[in-house]
Amino acid sequence: MTAGSSQQNAAVVLLISHLCFYGGYQLTELQVGLCHRCNGTVQNGTAVSQFCSASAGLIDGRCCLQRKENTRDADYIIGLDLSNCSLSHVEDLQDAFNATTIDLSLNPIVNLNNALFEGFIQLANLILPANLVCPGGNASWDKMEVKGETRVCEGQEDICNQTGHLSLNCPENSLCAPYGPGFFQCSCVDDFYGYKCLREGEFPIIQVFGPLAGSTVLVSILLWVTQRRKARSI
Ligand SMILES: *[C@@H]1O[C@H](CO)[C@@H](O)[C@H](O)[C@H]1NC(C)=O
Ligand SMILES: *[C@@H]1O[C@H](CO)[C@@H](O)[C@H](O)[C@H]1NC(C)=O
Ligand SMILES: *[C@@H]1O[C@H](CO)[C@@H](O)[C@H](O)[C@H]1NC(C)=O
Repeated sequence: MTAGSSQQNAAVVLLISHLCFYGGYQLTELQVGLCHRCNGTVQNGTAVSQFCSASAGLIDGRCCLQRKENTRDADYIIGLDLSNCSLSHVEDLQDAFNATTIDLSLNPIVNLNNALFEGFIQLANLILPANLVCPGGNASWDKMEVKGETRVCEGQEDICNQTGHLSLNCPENSLCAPYGPGFFQCSCVDDFYGYKCLREGEFPIIQVFGPLAGSTVLVSILLWVTQRRKARSI
Protein backbone atom coordinates (compact mmCIF):
# COMPACT_ATOMS: atom_id res chain seq x y z
CA MET A 1 0.00 0.00 0.00
CA THR A 2 1.38 3.39 -0.96
CA ALA A 3 1.34 6.43 1.27
CA GLY A 4 -1.24 8.02 -1.06
CA SER A 5 -3.75 5.21 -0.78
CA SER A 6 -3.42 5.00 2.99
CA GLN A 7 -4.14 8.72 3.14
CA GLN A 8 -7.19 8.18 0.98
CA ASN A 9 -8.35 5.39 3.27
CA ALA A 10 -8.03 7.71 6.24
CA ALA A 11 -10.18 10.30 4.48
CA VAL A 12 -12.78 7.67 3.57
CA VAL A 13 -12.93 6.53 7.19
CA LEU A 14 -13.36 10.14 8.30
CA LEU A 15 -16.11 10.68 5.75
CA ILE A 16 -17.87 7.45 6.76
CA SER A 17 -17.78 8.35 10.44
CA HIS A 18 -19.17 11.75 9.43
CA LEU A 19 -22.02 10.03 7.58
CA CYS A 20 -22.68 7.66 10.48
CA PHE A 21 -22.95 10.63 12.78
CA TYR A 22 -25.57 12.21 10.54
CA GLY A 23 -27.22 8.83 9.92
CA GLY A 24 -28.27 8.77 13.54
CA TYR A 25 -30.25 11.97 13.00
CA GLN A 26 -33.81 11.60 14.21
CA LEU A 27 -36.96 12.39 12.30
CA THR A 28 -37.98 15.86 13.39
CA GLU A 29 -41.16 17.85 13.14
CA LEU A 30 -39.44 19.82 10.39
CA GLN A 31 -38.74 16.72 8.37
CA VAL A 32 -42.36 15.72 8.61
CA GLY A 33 -43.16 19.33 7.69
CA LEU A 34 -40.99 19.20 4.57
CA CYS A 35 -42.88 16.15 3.27
CA HIS A 36 -46.22 17.84 3.84
CA ARG A 37 -45.32 21.42 2.92
CA CYS A 38 -47.04 20.91 -0.43
CA ASN A 39 -50.46 19.39 -1.08
CA GLY A 40 -50.85 15.85 -2.33
CA THR A 41 -48.33 13.08 -2.69
CA VAL A 42 -45.48 12.30 -5.09
CA GLN A 43 -47.21 12.12 -8.48
CA ASN A 44 -47.16 8.96 -10.52
CA GLY A 45 -44.66 9.06 -13.36
CA THR A 46 -42.46 11.84 -11.93
CA ALA A 47 -38.70 11.39 -11.45
CA VAL A 48 -39.11 11.03 -7.67
CA SER A 49 -41.88 8.44 -8.07
CA GLN A 50 -39.79 6.38 -10.53
CA PHE A 51 -36.70 6.61 -8.34
CA CYS A 52 -38.74 5.67 -5.28
CA SER A 53 -40.22 2.51 -6.74
CA ALA A 54 -36.80 1.54 -8.12
CA SER A 55 -35.24 1.87 -4.66
CA ALA A 56 -38.15 0.31 -2.76
CA GLY A 57 -38.80 3.53 -0.86
CA LEU A 58 -41.89 4.52 1.02
CA ILE A 59 -43.98 7.46 -0.22
CA ASP A 60 -45.04 9.88 2.50
CA GLY A 61 -46.64 13.06 1.17
CA ARG A 62 -44.08 14.63 -1.16
CA CYS A 63 -41.23 12.48 0.14
CA CYS A 64 -39.76 9.12 -0.65
CA LEU A 65 -38.42 7.67 2.60
CA GLN A 66 -35.85 5.00 3.16
CA ARG A 67 -36.84 2.58 5.84
CA LYS A 68 -33.99 1.50 8.10
CA GLU A 69 -34.47 -2.15 8.92
CA ASN A 70 -33.37 -3.48 12.30
CA THR A 71 -32.48 -0.10 13.74
CA ARG A 72 -34.25 2.30 16.01
CA ASP A 73 -33.15 5.17 13.78
CA ALA A 74 -35.82 7.13 11.98
CA ASP A 75 -36.47 6.91 8.26
CA TYR A 76 -34.70 9.45 6.10
CA ILE A 77 -35.67 11.31 2.97
CA ILE A 78 -34.11 9.89 -0.21
CA GLY A 79 -36.41 11.66 -2.67
CA LEU A 80 -38.29 14.96 -2.45
CA ASP A 81 -40.90 16.23 -4.90
CA LEU A 82 -41.90 19.84 -4.27
CA SER A 83 -42.93 20.42 -7.88
CA ASN A 84 -46.03 22.40 -8.88
CA CYS A 85 -46.50 23.85 -5.41
CA SER A 86 -46.50 27.63 -6.05
CA LEU A 87 -43.21 28.03 -4.15
CA SER A 88 -41.56 31.39 -4.80
CA HIS A 89 -38.56 30.72 -2.58
CA VAL A 90 -36.99 27.68 -0.94
CA GLU A 91 -35.06 28.45 2.19
CA ASP A 92 -34.22 25.23 3.95
CA LEU A 93 -34.02 21.70 2.62
CA GLN A 94 -31.53 20.54 5.23
CA ASP A 95 -33.78 17.70 6.40
CA ALA A 96 -33.49 16.16 2.93
CA PHE A 97 -29.66 16.21 2.90
CA ASN A 98 -29.61 12.45 2.17
CA ALA A 99 -31.79 12.83 -0.91
CA THR A 100 -30.69 11.45 -4.26
CA THR A 101 -33.54 13.00 -6.28
CA ILE A 102 -35.07 16.43 -5.69
CA ASP A 103 -37.71 18.04 -7.90
CA LEU A 104 -38.43 21.77 -7.52
CA SER A 105 -39.83 22.25 -11.02
CA LEU A 106 -43.05 24.06 -11.99
CA ASN A 107 -42.57 26.64 -9.24
CA PRO A 108 -42.17 30.42 -9.66
CA ILE A 109 -38.74 30.39 -7.94
CA VAL A 110 -36.57 33.37 -8.91
CA ASN A 111 -33.28 32.30 -7.34
CA LEU A 112 -31.85 29.75 -4.96
CA ASN A 113 -29.68 30.31 -1.92
CA ASN A 114 -26.08 29.34 -2.78
CA ALA A 115 -25.77 27.15 0.31
CA LEU A 116 -29.12 25.38 -0.16
CA PHE A 117 -27.49 22.11 -1.24
CA GLU A 118 -24.37 22.26 0.92
CA GLY A 119 -23.72 18.78 2.31
CA PHE A 120 -26.01 17.05 -0.21
CA ILE A 121 -23.36 14.55 -1.31
CA GLN A 122 -25.88 11.94 -2.52
CA LEU A 123 -27.79 14.33 -4.77
CA ALA A 124 -27.62 12.92 -8.30
CA ASN A 125 -30.78 14.17 -9.97
CA LEU A 126 -31.96 17.74 -9.41
CA ILE A 127 -34.92 19.10 -11.38
CA LEU A 128 -35.34 22.87 -11.34
CA PRO A 129 -37.46 25.45 -13.14
CA ALA A 130 -35.69 26.20 -16.47
CA ASN A 131 -34.89 29.79 -15.42
CA LEU A 132 -32.53 28.59 -12.66
CA VAL A 133 -28.98 27.32 -13.13
CA CYS A 134 -27.60 24.12 -11.69
CA PRO A 135 -25.97 24.84 -8.29
CA GLY A 136 -22.18 24.78 -8.41
CA GLY A 137 -22.19 25.40 -12.16
CA ASN A 138 -21.04 23.09 -14.93
CA ALA A 139 -18.06 21.78 -12.94
CA SER A 140 -20.45 20.14 -10.47
CA TRP A 141 -22.61 18.07 -12.84
CA ASP A 142 -22.09 15.38 -15.49
CA LYS A 143 -25.02 16.57 -17.54
CA MET A 144 -27.20 19.65 -17.51
CA GLU A 145 -30.10 20.08 -19.89
CA VAL A 146 -33.30 22.00 -20.37
CA LYS A 147 -36.39 19.89 -21.08
CA GLY A 148 -39.40 22.09 -21.71
CA GLU A 149 -40.01 24.12 -18.56
CA THR A 150 -37.47 22.23 -16.47
CA ARG A 151 -33.72 22.16 -16.10
CA VAL A 152 -32.26 18.79 -15.17
CA CYS A 153 -28.91 18.59 -13.34
CA GLU A 154 -27.67 15.02 -13.42
CA GLY A 155 -24.78 13.11 -11.90
CA GLN A 156 -22.91 15.12 -9.28
CA GLU A 157 -19.22 15.61 -10.06
CA ASP A 158 -16.54 15.41 -7.41
CA ILE A 159 -14.88 18.82 -7.67
CA CYS A 160 -11.86 17.55 -5.73
CA ASN A 161 -10.81 15.14 -8.47
CA GLN A 162 -11.26 17.43 -11.42
CA THR A 163 -8.44 19.88 -11.49
CA GLY A 164 -5.37 19.26 -9.39
CA HIS A 165 -5.20 22.90 -8.35
CA LEU A 166 -8.37 22.66 -6.25
CA SER A 167 -6.72 20.38 -3.72
CA LEU A 168 -4.35 23.28 -3.02
CA ASN A 169 -7.25 24.87 -1.17
CA CYS A 170 -6.93 22.22 1.51
CA PRO A 171 -4.08 22.79 3.99
CA GLU A 172 -1.13 20.44 4.24
CA ASN A 173 -1.92 17.11 5.97
CA SER A 174 -5.54 17.24 4.84
CA LEU A 175 -7.50 15.82 1.94
CA CYS A 176 -10.30 17.28 -0.12
CA ALA A 177 -13.68 15.51 -0.01
CA PRO A 178 -16.90 16.40 -1.89
CA TYR A 179 -19.59 18.12 0.16
CA GLY A 180 -22.50 18.74 -2.20
CA PRO A 181 -22.64 20.47 -5.62
CA GLY A 182 -19.89 23.10 -5.72
CA PHE A 183 -18.76 22.33 -2.17
CA PHE A 184 -15.82 20.43 -0.73
CA GLN A 185 -14.40 19.93 2.73
CA CYS A 186 -10.92 19.22 3.97
CA SER A 187 -10.39 16.30 6.35
CA CYS A 188 -7.19 15.85 8.30
CA VAL A 189 -5.24 12.72 7.42
CA ASP A 190 -3.81 10.06 9.73
CA ASP A 191 -2.81 11.42 13.14
CA PHE A 192 -3.12 15.07 12.27
CA TYR A 193 -5.77 17.19 13.96
CA GLY A 194 -6.62 20.68 15.11
CA TYR A 195 -6.69 23.99 13.30
CA LYS A 196 -5.53 23.48 9.70
CA CYS A 197 -4.43 19.93 10.68
CA LEU A 198 -1.15 21.34 12.01
CA ARG A 199 -0.95 19.09 15.06
CA GLU A 200 0.11 15.49 15.01
CA GLY A 201 -0.24 12.68 17.54
CA GLU A 202 -2.86 11.82 20.13
CA PHE A 203 -1.76 14.37 22.70
CA PRO A 204 1.18 16.70 22.13
CA ILE A 205 3.23 15.48 25.12
CA ILE A 206 6.53 15.79 23.28
CA GLN A 207 5.79 19.32 22.06
CA VAL A 208 4.64 20.53 25.48
CA PHE A 209 7.19 18.84 27.70
CA GLY A 210 10.06 18.50 25.23
CA PRO A 211 11.14 22.17 25.16
CA LEU A 212 10.56 22.44 28.92
CA ALA A 213 12.79 19.43 29.64
CA GLY A 214 15.38 20.76 27.18
CA SER A 215 15.54 24.20 28.77
CA THR A 216 15.71 22.68 32.28
CA VAL A 217 18.77 20.69 31.24
CA LEU A 218 20.30 23.81 29.67
CA VAL A 219 19.72 25.95 32.76
CA SER A 220 21.12 23.17 34.97
CA ILE A 221 24.28 22.96 32.88
CA LEU A 222 24.61 26.75 32.91
CA LEU A 223 24.16 26.87 36.68
CA TRP A 224 26.59 24.00 37.19
CA VAL A 225 29.20 25.70 35.01
CA THR A 226 28.78 29.13 36.64
CA GLN A 227 28.66 27.66 40.17
CA ARG A 228 31.82 25.63 39.45
CA ARG A 229 33.57 28.78 38.25
CA LYS A 230 32.46 30.62 41.39
CA ALA A 231 33.60 27.67 43.53
CA ARG A 232 37.03 27.76 41.86
CA SER A 233 37.46 31.52 42.21
CA ILE A 234 36.71 31.41 45.93
C1 LIG B 1 -49.19 4.61 -10.84
O1 LIG B 1 -48.87 3.98 -12.06
C2 LIG B 1 -48.84 2.58 -11.99
C3 LIG B 1 -48.45 2.05 -13.36
O2 LIG B 1 -47.54 2.88 -13.99
C4 LIG B 1 -50.19 2.05 -11.55
O3 LIG B 1 -50.12 0.65 -11.42
C5 LIG B 1 -50.58 2.67 -10.21
O4 LIG B 1 -51.89 2.26 -9.87
C6 LIG B 1 -50.55 4.16 -10.33
N1 LIG B 1 -50.82 4.75 -9.02
C7 LIG B 1 -51.61 5.78 -8.85
C8 LIG B 1 -51.80 6.26 -7.44
O5 LIG B 1 -52.15 6.36 -9.77
C1 LIG C 1 -50.22 21.50 -11.10
O1 LIG C 1 -51.21 21.56 -10.10
C2 LIG C 1 -52.49 21.95 -10.54
C3 LIG C 1 -53.41 21.99 -9.36
O2 LIG C 1 -52.78 22.44 -8.22
C4 LIG C 1 -53.00 20.97 -11.59
O3 LIG C 1 -54.22 21.38 -12.08
C5 LIG C 1 -52.00 20.85 -12.71
O4 LIG C 1 -52.42 19.84 -13.62
C6 LIG C 1 -50.64 20.51 -12.18
N1 LIG C 1 -49.66 20.50 -13.24
C7 LIG C 1 -48.86 19.48 -13.47
C8 LIG C 1 -47.96 19.61 -14.64
O5 LIG C 1 -48.84 18.49 -12.77
C1 LIG D 1 -18.14 25.48 -18.08
O1 LIG D 1 -18.20 26.88 -17.86
C2 LIG D 1 -17.02 27.55 -18.18
C3 LIG D 1 -17.17 29.01 -17.79
O2 LIG D 1 -18.48 29.36 -17.57
C4 LIG D 1 -16.75 27.39 -19.68
O3 LIG D 1 -15.55 28.06 -20.02
C5 LIG D 1 -16.64 25.93 -20.00
O4 LIG D 1 -16.49 25.75 -21.39
C6 LIG D 1 -17.87 25.19 -19.55
N1 LIG D 1 -17.66 23.77 -19.73
C7 LIG D 1 -18.59 22.99 -20.25
C8 LIG D 1 -18.22 21.54 -20.37
O5 LIG D 1 -19.67 23.40 -20.58
